[in-house]
Amino acid sequence: MRLSTLLVGALLGLQASALGRTPTIRELRAKKEEVKARRISRASTSLAKRDTDPEDLYEGHNLTVPLDFFPNETRYEPHTNATFNLRYFFDAQYYKPGGPVFVLLSGETSAVNRLGFLQKGIVNQVAKATNGIGVILEHRYYGTSHPFLNVSTENLRFLSTEQSLAEIDYFARNVEFEGVDADLTAPNTPWIIYGGSYAGAQAAFLRVAYPDTFLGTISSSGVTAAIYEYWEYFEPIRLFAPPDCVAGTQTLIDVIDGILIRQNSTELVQQLKDVFGFGSVTDNRDFAYIFGGVPGWQSTNWDPELNSPTTFNYCGNISATTLLDSAYESKRSTVQTLVSAAGYPANSTAVENVILNSIAYYGGSSLAAWEESGESQDQYFTQLNDTYWQEVDLDAAETWRSWNYQVCTEWGYIQTGNTPEDIKPLISRAADLEYLTYFCRSSFNITTPPKVENVNKYGSFDIEAPRLAIIGGNADPWKMATPLRDGPQTRNSTTEKPWLEIAHGVHHWEENGIFDNETTPTLPPNQVVYAQQFLKNFVIDWIREFEGAGSETTEL
Ligand SMILES: *[C@@H]1O[C@H](CO)[C@@H](O)[C@H](O)[C@H]1NC(C)=O
Ligand SMILES: *[C@@H]1O[C@H](CO)[C@@H](O)[C@H](O)[C@H]1NC(C)=O
Ligand SMILES: *[C@@H]1O[C@H](CO)[C@@H](O)[C@H](O)[C@H]1NC(C)=O
Ligand SMILES: *[C@@H]1O[C@H](CO)[C@@H](O)[C@H](O)[C@H]1NC(C)=O
Ligand SMILES: *[C@@H]1O[C@H](CO)[C@@H](O)[C@H](O)[C@H]1NC(C)=O
Ligand SMILES: *[C@@H]1O[C@H](CO)[C@@H](O)[C@H](O)[C@H]1NC(C)=O
Ligand SMILES: *[C@@H]1O[C@H](CO)[C@@H](O)[C@H](O)[C@H]1NC(C)=O
Ligand SMILES: *[C@@H]1O[C@H](CO)[C@@H](O)[C@H](O)[C@H]1NC(C)=O
Ligand SMILES: *[C@@H]1O[C@H](CO)[C@@H](O)[C@H](O)[C@H]1NC(C)=O
Ligand SMILES: *[C@@H]1O[C@H](CO)[C@@H](O)[C@H](O)[C@H]1NC(C)=O
Ligand SMILES: *[C@@H]1O[C@H](CO)[C@@H](O)[C@H](O)[C@H]1NC(C)=O
Repeated sequence: MRLSTLLVGALLGLQASALGRTPTIRELRAKKEEVKARRISRASTSLAKRDTDPEDLYEGHNLTVPLDFFPNETRYEPHTNATFNLRYFFDAQYYKPGGPVFVLLSGETSAVNRLGFLQKGIVNQVAKATNGIGVILEHRYYGTSHPFLNVSTENLRFLSTEQSLAEIDYFARNVEFEGVDADLTAPNTPWIIYGGSYAGAQAAFLRVAYPDTFLGTISSSGVTAAIYEYWEYFEPIRLFAPPDCVAGTQTLIDVIDGILIRQNSTELVQQLKDVFGFGSVTDNRDFAYIFGGVPGWQSTNWDPELNSPTTFNYCGNISATTLLDSAYESKRSTVQTLVSAAGYPANSTAVENVILNSIAYYGGSSLAAWEESGESQDQYFTQLNDTYWQEVDLDAAETWRSWNYQVCTEWGYIQTGNTPEDIKPLISRAADLEYLTYFCRSSFNITTPPKVENVNKYGSFDIEAPRLAIIGGNADPWKMATPLRDGPQTRNSTTEKPWLEIAHGVHHWEENGIFDNETTPTLPPNQVVYAQQFLKNFVIDWIREFEGAGSETTEL
């Protein structure tokens, strides 16, 4: 029980999007338990408790879809003519004849995790503003949209970026919405696609790959550039997280690396592990990977009910340069030895205090969670576990395996501590490519880098098209993989090519919303209200353009 409480911050991040900080096996195990629990009992896994569970509001529907859209490509051999059930949810309460279809792509997770956006987030808002129909569309190999009963490597071969785009095109051209007595297929009805994060990249690519199907697409925090080694994940965190918290984290990691990498003596390494209580973690990299990164940052949200307290608590502990709990004074002499061995001057009291406060913080979090587990430290902390990485059941698919396959084959985003020399990393340099791609070898027998060109051929950072909107936050860890990498001045915004950077925004902050009766002068914050209105305005303009100058739809 305590385990799940401790991990709730991390899990929230994972649930909101599988595209987060690379989770550890122990986080994945806890997530899998939640996936199972939800499947069985729909036990609430959300921190937002004030509203009706959206799963009670919407019914799932399936469209029968071909599995293999590229019968001539050798990479998908052996080919198949099989079909599978692609799941979607919709809400037609605002629909009036002539209205658009507004689809949110649920990306690398179950569509159920995106239903809140239909209930009161961006989908609800746009459908209401345009008399449209709101849709949440699942992605092959996630949720219930599984072509096979397991996700063995062989069965995963049809999981690729181009297959996923083709399936969305097929959906738009073939779906019939139950109870809606009209042909709403594309391109005769205006279709607008929205996606955040990985799905934001898909949204952008669709406008390039299928320009005749989709009237317009919106790429929110859309990671349009696939990057193998993505140390830049930590850059927006380094630049936008509270400066004292960043400095404390860098100090902690520098002391750890000073011992593990610069000294690398067996005795000192053991002393370092022991003083933190992780003395039985055998692999130095598994030990190093316990620390750092400003936990929970990506899940920071403007809505207090969605926001994770993890970052706040972590920073409260790591920012202090005074000793927070005098009980840890007894470890000072050991810490002094380690700090000085790591290359710091003797009696660097502030540095010692950061380490002592870290010992206290990780003692109350990672160490306490391990104590609850009843496992050995190696069982609990290692990332090098073939038994784990070779699981192929559908819960494993949802928890990690489908997305990891995409990581290893096409996307990368391996978040190493390998910063340039002049940037102090937020995670250990021991967390390198070799270590962090262990699962590619173990799970899929993939030993070569991902084919990022399969993704980047759509335009990467420079992707651009009429009625393709780019939106993101300046403090988003994924910013460095989006067209907004170099900041808002890179392009000028027009109705034809909308472009917006949300100040102080993190990951797709305009995607979630709150009911009108829940707003306050500060909720949503101004820049989110602005972003959502901006989005609705250009969507309305696009639809007007589609309808032609003749029809006056002033009520929009
Ligand atoms: C949709 O397909 C899934 C997987 O095949 C199945 O479990 C589910 O019952 C189907 N739903 C409907 C409404 O037919
Ligand atoms: C595959 O190749 C056949 C024969 O060359 C061709 O007729 C067909 O259009 C191709 N299919 C696709 C989807 O490219
Ligand atoms: C799929 O169906 C087509 C047309 O019937 C046939 O030519 C082709 O061999 C089939 N492909 C597979 C893999 O069964
Ligand atoms: C996975 O499913 C395939 C059929 O799609 C089956 O041949 C294989 O034995 C299954 N593997 C495991 C490990 O269950
Ligand atoms: C530490 O030393 C061991 C044994 O000499 C070596 O195998 C390992 O690569 C070194 N580690 C680092 C991080 O340099
Ligand atoms: C340190 O972290 C713990 C556990 O997360 C938290 O309860 C505590 O308030 C934090 N301390 C400070 C000073 O923020
Ligand atoms: C470090 O501080 C201790 C007392 O806290 C003192 O005895 C010692 O001389 C100091 N060492 C240096 C190198 O300043
Ligand atoms: C590896 O993972 C499996 C499955 O989760 C677990 O039962 C086992 O204890 C782990 N073994 C080691 C050595 O970590
Ligand atoms: C892994 O791939 C290599 C080279 O492609 C192959 O020789 C080997 O048999 C594969 N191993 C497994 C377990 O599939
Ligand atoms: C944006 O517009 C301004 C004013 O028209 C122009 O000076 C500037 O070069 C434009 N920037 C870009 C990136 O196109
Ligand atoms: C606000 O409106 C929603 C939807 O109409 C409703 O479910 C919710 O209970 C209302 N909340 C409050 C605080 O009245």
